[in-house]
Amino acid sequence: MSNLLDPITIGARFDLRNRVVMGSMTRNRCVDDNKPGPAQIKHYADRAKDGTGLIVSEGIFIDWTGCDWQYTPVMITDDHAAAWKRVTDAVHEVGGKIFMQAWHAGRCAHDEMPIAKEHSVQVLAPSAIKANAGEYHDLPGRPGHTANVHAIEDPKTIIETYRHACTLAKRAGFDGVELLAQGGYLAQQFLNSRANKRKDSYGGTVENRCRFILETIDAITKIFEGPGAICVKISPTDYLNDSMVGFDEMKETYTYLINEMVKRRVGIITLCRRGTSTGDLLNRPKEFSIPEGYDPVLDLGKLVKFPGSPSRLMANNDYTVGEANRLIKEGKIDMITFGRPFIYNPDVIHRIRHGIPFAVNNRTNAVLYGPYKIPDENYNDWPAAAILGV
Ligand SMILES: Cc1cc2nc3c(=O)[nH]c(=O)nc-3n(C[C@H](O)[C@H](O)[C@H](O)COP(=O)(O)O)c2cc1C
Repeated sequence: MSNLLDPITIGARFDLRNRVVMGSMTRNRCVDDNKPGPAQIKHYADRAKDGTGLIVSEGIFIDWTGCDWQYTPVMITDDHAAAWKRVTDAVHEVGGKIFMQAWHAGRCAHDEMPIAKEHSVQVLAPSAIKANAGEYHDLPGRPGHTANVHAIEDPKTIIETYRHACTLAKRAGFDGVELLAQGGYLAQQFLNSRANKRKDSYGGTVENRCRFILETIDAITKIFEGPGAICVKISPTDYLNDSMVGFDEMKETYTYLINEMVKRRVGIITLCRRGTSTGDLLNRPKEFSIPEGYDPVLDLGKLVKFPGSPSRLMANNDYTVGEANRLIKEGKIDMITFGRPFIYNPDVIHRIRHGIPFAVNNRTNAVLYGPYKIPDENYNDWPAAAILGV
């Protein structure tokens, strides 16, 4: 019977100190030309020094076309890789492991964003369909997502862009890559029949809608010499950025996708429960309703978590230490991603070890994405807990 702090092996290729993973969190603080600097080095190294099993970087855009924040990092040139190498070195020096999260926002990018204008890029998506959501803090009037969306001509060109970014990630010293395939961003747009109306082999049937993600996984597998260093983050019941689909489509799509990912021996599959009554409470419109009590982690998770499975099941969204520990002990999940606790606690592992409750946000929401005077503000100024008797 394992618990949260027991070690675990991923993809028969590397061992993690424990099963607690710092989730990917955009913090909008890469003020030096979309590269990490001293603030990011300290932030990630502090959490690695505390003993975090695995860190997933904040979402890193693979291309200027996919950006929807002004100060998020990108992985496009050797210069970006060199900047991240300083972060991965600092994490490795204290015994940590770190994956790059590969992100393309697709139709959630905005053509009015200064970053899009500066690089003269179009907003790209599987089909030219606007997402009914969005709010751009940096843009006057806080508009929603743009209607100025262009259908991707050949999805293989975007897969090539992922391949390029992940090649740089390897050069930057990342131990692997987490593919962001939730949140209504590009990879999930391909899955969703409301966002993807393509008539070619990337649209229509379930097999076709899953093709983009599976071919991207195959491309990353080649770079990292095996699928064990790949994690894919999915959120079947998601609603963010107009990502909702009906229950039947959700079940059919994700059953096929997960089975194919396990067949490919993907190292970790992160299943989020956002949008369910067990995660965020949400009044979903009737056509997208989910049966009361439905939990995608427990239902679809069975496709990942079985004796002899090559893939590890990682759960996410609104878990407590107690619930995560219970599910690991019961053999229902292998690992947990905590997101927000890692913002307010540089010492998540120490707190778990000593039974100290996590600190919560007692400041304002500016903590998340700014504004800030210097990037360290609300980022590297959260105190560790005093441990009695130590
Ligand atoms: C400030 C903030 C930024 C986030 N940015 C990302 C991101 O870049 N990529 C991603 O996949 N998820 C992102 N998330 C979602 C988290 O990774 C995680 O899935 C979510 O917070 C739920 O986990 P929790 O309940 O433990 O916080 C972000 C969440 C927060 C609070």
